[in-house]
Amino acid sequence: MSSSDEEGSGEEYLFKIVIIGDSAVGKSNLLSRYARNEFNAHSKATIGVEFQTQSMEIDGKEVKAQIWDTAGQERFRAVTSAYYRGAVGALIVYDITRKTTFESVGRWLDELKTHSDTTVAMMLVGNKCDLENIRDVSVEDGKGLAEAEGLFFMETSALDSTNVIKAFELVIQEIY
Ligand code: GTP
Ligand code: MG
Repeated sequence: MSSSDEEGSGEEYLFKIVIIGDSAVGKSNLLSRYARNEFNAHSKATIGVEFQTQSMEIDGKEVKAQIWDTAGQERFRAVTSAYYRGAVGALIVYDITRKTTFESVGRWLDELKTHSDTTVAMMLVGNKCDLENIRDVSVEDGKGLAEAEGLFFMETSALDSTNVIKAFELVIQEIY
């Protein structure tokens, strides 16, 4: 957190949101696009946990989202229960060009449900929608799974920014 985030100015809210999904689906780039408007075409796999705090205003109140990002690869992950503890929102991300990442969504949901300690606003995110020419998961399949599991759904692109702000802000709004 930067020092400017630490000044309390009356009423404010802090929400923890976690991003989960297989390795290389674009979790870290979704977060950097949202928090810093940055994209990295050569980003390295995340090791451990990183987080960013992002403020927004809802109904004239300052709302802060603390967004956590961890490794999709099991061997690089930090303690699972600590990662999920206190989370009130989650983005479950797959890559629309790799069906295996879509097939993993169920496992990620199971892990989330096992470790979360409160009600969690959940958004299923099909990332890399800029790669329409090599799409491997249809929009209908994404929507269908989201409906079946009671999740919000959005396709995004961290590369060209499609729906990135919308996806995060819809989750934050839902929590609030
Ligand atoms: P782990 O940290 O290993 O779990 O991976 P991750 O889910 O954080 O993936 P990351 O954000 O590092 O992105 C993996 C690769 O996909 C990188 O080469 C990114 O540049 C690329 N990438 C991420 N988002 C997009 C996107 O929306 N479109 C395209 N075309 N590439 C993307
Ligand atoms: Mg990462």
